Amino acid sequence: MSQNFSHRSVLLEECIQSLAIRPDGIYVDGTAGGGGHSFAIASALTTGSLIAIDRDEAAILAASERLAPLGERARVVRSNFSDVTSVLDTLHIDQIDGLLLDLGVSSHQFDEADRGFSYRNDAPLDMRMDRRQAKSAYDVINTYSEEELRRILYEYGEEKFAPRIAARIVKERELAPIQTTNQLSELIKSAIPVAARDGGHPAKRSFQAIRIEVNGELDVIEPTIEQAIARMKKGGRLAIITFHSLEDRIVKQAYQKLALGCTCPKSFPVCVCGNKPKIRILTKKPILPSENELAENPRSHSAKLRVAEKL
Ligand SMILES: C[S@@+](CC[C@H](N)C(=O)[O-])C[C@H]1O[C@@H](n2cnc3c(N)ncnc32)[C@H](O)[C@@H]1O
Repeated sequence: MSQNFSHRSVLLEECIQSLAIRPDGIYVDGTAGGGGHSFAIASALTTGSLIAIDRDEAAILAASERLAPLGERARVVRSNFSDVTSVLDTLHIDQIDGLLLDLGVSSHQFDEADRGFSYRNDAPLDMRMDRRQAKSAYDVINTYSEEELRRILYEYGEEKFAPRIAARIVKERELAPIQTTNQLSELIKSAIPVAARDGGHPAKRSFQAIRIEVNGELDVIEPTIEQAIARMKKGGRLAIITFHSLEDRIVKQAYQKLALGCTCPKSFPVCVCGNKPKIRILTKKPILPSENELAENPRSHSAKLRVAEKL
C-alpha cells in the first residue's frame, strides 16, 4: 500500500463506538480514503457488509487493497457520496444501519504533489478529487469573475482580504493565465499586507476556498444526510467528522432540522404540517479528539464528530 495512505484515521475509536455496529448490519463509509475507518467498521461485522465509497481513483485503489483481506464483508464503489441512494439501489440494498462521513481532503491528496491541493508543492492548478470532472482550480482561477472569486474566498475561506486577492488574481491573469500553485500562492501572499499576516501560511485560507469550490464540497452534505436518513433502519446511526466551521455548521443545522420535525411557523398555536422528528441528536456538543490523538496526529486538530440516531 502507498505510504501516504498509512496516516492514522481521525477519531477512529469514537466513530466505531458512535456507530454502535451490529455485526449483521449494512454500513456505508461515504469517504473511504485510505480505508482506515472502513477497515475498522468491516472488521466488526460477521454476516453484515460495508460499502466503501470514494470519488477519488487513488483512494479507491488504496481502499480496495486495504479491504481485500476482509473479502465479501467490504465492497468498494467509486462514486460521489451524494449519489448514495443510487449506489444502494444498484447493489439492491434497501436499508442501512449506519453511515460515516469523514469529510474533506485526505492526507494523501494533500501530499501527492501533482494534485495541486497544497501550496507547499509546485504543481498545475488542479485540486479535483475526481479527475473525471471537467472543472479544475485552473478554471476557477482563470475564468471566474472578480465578484465570484471574492465571494468564494470570503465564504469558503473566511478570508478577510478576499477583495484584494480577487483583484490581484484578475489583474495577473490579464497578462497570462495563472498556471501553477506556486504562482497562485505568491500572488495571494503579495495581496495580503505584511502587518496582517498571522503566522499561518498566507495562502492557506484561499487554497481551502478554491478546493471547496472545485469539488462542490459543501453543497452535497445536507442532501446526503437526508438521503441516508431516508434509507436508514430505526436505531441506525449517522456519524460525521468535519474539519472546519463551514462544514460543521451545515451538519449541525441539518441534524437540528431533522430532529425538529415540525416545520410550522413559530406563531402557529398547533402543528399543522404533521412532520415528525426523524432523528435524535446524540452529541449535543461535538466529540473532539483526545489529548493523545491531538499529540499524535496533527490532522485531528480541527476535527469534530457529530452523531445522530434514526428514530
Ligand atoms: C478525510 S479523507 C477520508 C479518510 C478515511 N476515513 C480513512 O480512514 O482513510 C476524505 C475522503 O473523502 C473523499 N471525498 C470527499 N468528498 C467526497 C464526496 N462528495 N464523495 C465521495 N468521496 C468524497 C475524498 O476523495 C477523500 O478520499
